[in-house]
Amino acid sequence: MAKTPWVGEALSEAAYSAVELSAAGDVLFVLDQRLLPTEQRYVSCRDVAAVASTIRDMVVRGAPAIGITAAYGMALAARAGEGDDADAYRKRMIAAAAQLRATRPTAVNLDWAVRRCLTTVADHAGESGLQRQRQLVDLSREIHREDVASCRAMGRLGADRLPQGATVLTHCNAGALATGGYGTALGVVRAAWASGKLAGVLACETRPYLQGARLTAWELQQDGIDVTVITDGMVAHCMRTGRVGAVVVGADRIAANGDVANKIGTYGHACLAREHGVPFFVAAPWSTVDLGTAHGDDIVIEQRSREELARLGAATLVPDGVAVYNPAFDVTPAAYVTAIFTERGVFEPEQLNV
Ligand code: MRU
Repeated sequence: MAKTPWVGEALSEAAYSAVELSAAGDVLFVLDQRLLPTEQRYVSCRDVAAVASTIRDMVVRGAPAIGITAAYGMALAARAGEGDDADAYRKRMIAAAAQLRATRPTAVNLDWAVRRCLTTVADHAGESGLQRQRQLVDLSREIHREDVASCRAMGRLGADRLPQGATVLTHCNAGALATGGYGTALGVVRAAWASGKLAGVLACETRPYLQGARLTAWELQQDGIDVTVITDGMVAHCMRTGRVGAVVVGADRIAANGDVANKIGTYGHACLAREHGVPFFVAAPWSTVDLGTAHGDDIVIEQRSREELARLGAATLVPDGVAVYNPAFDVTPAAYVTAIFTERGVFEPEQLNV
């Protein structure tokens, strides 16, 4: 499957990319992850409102990927403000930032990327429209490139820590689709697979949005990595019967005390890993570490719609009129985390803030 012709720069070796800015910097192409694994189609965004929708509607998802997407959204907003004077430009960009931040609250990478863009806006508001635009295009591409480099670095470090011949259990999708490319948890998987260390991957299907079944399985299959999908309820059985050598997951926000917010279901896997003596690893770039949030309980957990849980395509899974509870993330206490792999090194969770 060849990359689409509009791709200006090869940011990853994969045949797809979650997001790509056109060479001219005027269109953001976002791979529609809602359609995977059956269809590989890109949504074109020409303004910040369209970019915000792709994040809110989970066309693109995964903490680093939505941060990168938001940065590109800021670049498109700067383009729209080419004729603005400095004051109007600042106001436009602050409004764009607010629009992007309002999309999804839990993944800190989004806020982190938008804040970086706003610093550039403040530093250069008085320059020409063209210069301001170029700075934000350069910065958003840089954020994208940095993320791929971080994934590769944590992938190498994490692979070193895996037991030889292990089967890795992962949850949700923390792969190339969820990042600038290569992946965090799946970056560790890719590096371990390449060095012959990995027996294979157990991918939890990840109710209700099925990121594991649809996305992790798809992208590992593309790379020829041995992957088996299980339902979330099978994890206890797989651990008790010795089928899991290590758990490796991504993160949406890591608090200063080492508590980890990640896709709903992660905490349950961590409890089971502890019960069965299986190491539980988290792989995340430093942009996911939020030293400004002291404790996991301070992390805002996004609530998603009833439809995401109660319906599957045209099928109704829950009787109409019955309530559902649909938190998108949970928090795994630091005590359950064996180690955190980042591009800056491998940390015990309580070491993050020293
Ligand atoms: O709701 P999603 O699909 O955006 O949730 C994604 C996750 O929970 C991932 O594990 C996390 O963002 C890390 S992605 C490298």
